[in-house]
Amino acid sequence: METTLIVGCGYLGRHVAATLQQTERPILALTGHCDSATALQARGYTAYPVDLDKPCTAPLPDQPYRVLYLVPPNPTQDTDLRLQNYLDALTQHLPTRFVYASSSAVYGDRKGAWVNEDTPVSAHSATAARRIDAENRLRSWSAEQGVSHVVLRIAGIYGPGRLPLARLRNARPAVREEEAGWSNRIHIDDLTRICIAALDHPSPRALYNVADGTPTSSTAFLQAVARHCGICPLPLVSRVEALRVATPGQARFLRESRRLDTTRLRQDLAPQLIHPNINEALQPVS
Ligand SMILES: NC(=O)c1ccc[n+]([C@@H]2O[C@H](COP(=O)([O-])OP(=O)(O)OC[C@H]3O[C@@H](n4cnc5c(N)ncnc54)[C@H](OP(=O)(O)O)[C@@H]3O)[C@@H](O)[C@H]2O)c1
Repeated sequence: METTLIVGCGYLGRHVAATLQQTERPILALTGHCDSATALQARGYTAYPVDLDKPCTAPLPDQPYRVLYLVPPNPTQDTDLRLQNYLDALTQHLPTRFVYASSSAVYGDRKGAWVNEDTPVSAHSATAARRIDAENRLRSWSAEQGVSHVVLRIAGIYGPGRLPLARLRNARPAVREEEAGWSNRIHIDDLTRICIAALDHPSPRALYNVADGTPTSSTAFLQAVARHCGICPLPLVSRVEALRVATPGQARFLRESRRLDTTRLRQDLAPQLIHPNINEALQPVS
């Protein structure tokens, strides 16, 4: 049985590891810090720390293996040298497949339009530029080495332990629904299954949008989380006022509006989702 290398075994990686472990499929996990590797070892996983900000020798299994790569690019760089360092470490013993977690940020602001995998990307922000660089690096490397690859352009991840509680508690206002743009999300339970499907599929396509297919505004998401957790809903203000008080990260989300078309995902990797929309997933507390 092939070993699954989970490179960057953080929030998503731990969910994937737990699911694979249930079916006794072998896993090797890599993290950025010793503490996170030790925590994974304590849960029974084979785990090692590796710093991908430097050229490295990555631990590789002797048997065939596939890679789920979840390390974000270094936020201080324009390109994804972490990914390059990791790809360089694989050339002696290549994986059978390389699945890369990218971001739907690559599409930039589409003024609320639907975007599919043929929509051109736009390096309008540093975040988008780093992800486009990473996708291009992986595409070239895979073609040169003859390795099957899959890029997942993932929307906002949410689920237990990944809800914007601090954002709700600091009560910084949100944009009124009628002025808020479209945003896209995916529940961690569905994303976990999608990552495994991308690793297992006999002949996947090279690129998928990953979202639940039911776009909403960020405001609707924040208010749904507030109801779900029994927290006071946020005050609502105009878009101009919300941008005035937003952090730089929040401002990027407020300026971007797009709806992810997930037809291809449903056809190949996820015909049915556990959580097809946020309202079903985030039921109000009783
Ligand atoms: N959050 C979202 O809504 C969203 C949306 C689209 C795409 N994504 C992307 O999806 C991927 C998985 O997300 P996630 O929430 O699971 O991320 P996460 O919890 O932040 O995990 C990231 C992992 O990368 C490791 N890492 C960081 N820097 C490293 C380095 N220099 N060398 C080696 N490993 C390093 C971390 O190790 P340590 O924990 O030891 O530092 C951790 O294991 C990420 O690339 C993320 O950017 C996220």
